[in-house]
Amino acid sequence: MYNSKIIGLGHYVPENVVTNDDLSKLMETNDEWIQERTGIKERRHVVKGEDTTTTMGVKAAKIAIERAGIDKDDIDFIVFATLSPDYYFPGPGVLVQRDLGIKTVGALDVRNQCSGFVYGISVADQYIKSGMYKNVLVIGSEVHSTGLDMTTRGRGVSVIFGDGAGAAVVSREEDTTKGILSTHLHSEGQHAEELSLIAPGMGKRWVTDIIEENDPNDESYYPYMNGQFVFKNAVVRFSEVIMEGLQMNGLSPSDINMLVPHQANLRISQFVQKKFGLSNDQVYNNIMNYGNTTAASIPIALTEAWEKGKINSGDLVVLAAFGSGFTWGSVIIKW
Ligand code: UT7
Repeated sequence: MYNSKIIGLGHYVPENVVTNDDLSKLMETNDEWIQERTGIKERRHVVKGEDTTTTMGVKAAKIAIERAGIDKDDIDFIVFATLSPDYYFPGPGVLVQRDLGIKTVGALDVRNQCSGFVYGISVADQYIKSGMYKNVLVIGSEVHSTGLDMTTRGRGVSVIFGDGAGAAVVSREEDTTKGILSTHLHSEGQHAEELSLIAPGMGKRWVTDIIEENDPNDESYYPYMNGQFVFKNAVVRFSEVIMEGLQMNGLSPSDINMLVPHQANLRISQFVQKKFGLSNDQVYNNIMNYGNTTAASIPIALTEAWEKGKINSGDLVVLAAFGSGFTWGSVIIKW
């Protein structure tokens, strides 16, 4: 029997900082509204042609591999979580295998949006616990900025999302009281369209339909979010899935040393913090600086928390995510 543990973390964000004031020059919005409703002060946007979802993922992965103290050839499997792949197919997992020059190991792409990294960690954990693999590279990376509606029509979504990448090396741990104790995954497809990007897709509108119709009012290729509905579900599901993980391990909220929630909205994190009676030191938030980077948000936040010395050996670390699908999940770690 093995456990798995995170032995290396890295993140990369593009240099280009976009403030709320910058966005207010493109659409009817303002710094006060964005900060009050979301907590976001600024986010990063790629410079087109410089960074892609894959290149950012590769940069984050290189740091994680180096910090893990292993060689790229020790990686047995790649898991890549994103909703914004470079290509419609193939997914970015194989591009990472190529660009990092890793031998011909398996590469899996995860399509679980904001919960993507949590799902990816769960996959890595199971492969390691079964004994099949020893070192799994898990990446979450997103480029949102080039696909958003940067007009007043899209402001409910476009002020929220940002670009960036984070990565973790998950490795075999022989001591089963340490490392990833459990992972918990859920979905509710009944609400699939409440936070979605419908086109291009084979279901309703493919690229050829979009070109043929050439409709300037077509919104189907921009992300849609029923913000209040998503918010209401998020606070419930975050709380449930954290409790589920704690209870399975005979733990309670007061045992948490560090909660790293998906950075969806600062108000959601604060709601969860209050509900569980956690102090500011027990919850890590960085949405102020990066916005919501979906699958990248947890690995970026986890890396920063670790770099700042906020996560230490023996700590109980909880990861939790909720997002499009709906999908949600948690990871309970004894660091
Ligand atoms: O990561 C995946 C999970 N995602 C989430 O969990 C996100 C959950 N939802 C939210 O975070 C919030 O619902 C939002 C931040 C998206 C929106 O906040 P809200 O407090 O729910 O605002 P709202 O959508 O109800 O909009 C309130 C008003 C509207 O105007 P009226 O109808 O009251 O006149 C909007 O048109 O704010 C307006 N509005 C804006 N105003 C300025 C919407 N977006 C903006 C904007 N700037 N960017």
